[in-house]
Amino acid sequence: MKGVILAGGLGTRLFPLTKITNKHLLPVYDRPMIYYPIQALVNAGVRDIMIVTGGRKSGDFLSLLGNGSEFGLKHLNYTYQEGEGGIAEALGLASHWASGDKVCVVLGDNIIQYNIAKAVRDFERQDKGAKILLKEVHDPERFGVAELEGERVVKIVEKPKAPKSNKAVIGVYMYDARVFEIIKTLKPSERGELEITDVNNWYIRDGSMTFETLQGWWTDAGTFESLHRASCLVAEGGANLMDDPRPAPERGPK
Ligand code: DAU
Repeated sequence: MKGVILAGGLGTRLFPLTKITNKHLLPVYDRPMIYYPIQALVNAGVRDIMIVTGGRKSGDFLSLLGNGSEFGLKHLNYTYQEGEGGIAEALGLASHWASGDKVCVVLGDNIIQYNIAKAVRDFERQDKGAKILLKEVHDPERFGVAELEGERVVKIVEKPKAPKSNKAVIGVYMYDARVFEIIKTLKPSERGELEITDVNNWYIRDGSMTFETLQGWWTDAGTFESLHRASCLVAEGGANLMDDPRPAPERGPK
């Protein structure tokens, strides 16, 4: 499985912090934001990674990360997204490089408490389709929200005004190689972007989407409030911990 980290976009919700730099280079507690998604993939055993960057100061990613030796990597791949055409457009730029492999996509501003290795292993065994991770939140209208019937996700709605559940789709997506053909068929949404939610709804209609519920905390870091919260959560106990340390009965259903 290959890993793709999406770190493009202009980060306008964080102006003026992002006026002269890329959002994913801003600090989250004691390290740059981009360190967290890289560590999440490495801890899950994904070592062949491409970073899609864009906007301002994209060259600084190379100065900061080099070939990824700080993460025990021998090499990192980079590509550049012009403008802000959406998460799915950014992923599409990794098409030639992924060359037929499954991909685990992590949004560059998503930070998670625990290792996602189990979900990645489960998806490696899934013969086709996609996998998403869901997390209950108090502000679902900020996210892609899953509508469930029993144990089945029947639809995802991007930033619904009246969410039908509190289950957000977090920014970790796993896809088979068909994803790049699906992206080519997408039309821009009202906000002018190729939406990852449209990709996910394609797999739901195909009947090949699975999901897992994330244990531990998860946050994005793309607004002042969530950036601050992310720093506090990391300061309190760290992110990307190798395993959920609570005894199994307290963890709830896996
Ligand atoms: O954080 C999870 C949420 O992320 C999901 O629940 C939503 O379904 C999904 O659409 C996304 O929502 P946001 O509106 O918060 O995404 P945002 O525009 O902040 O982009 C998230 C990351 O994706 C960003 O840190 C960099 C990358 N990105 C985004 C855009 C628009 C790109 O690489 N290129 C882009 O053009």
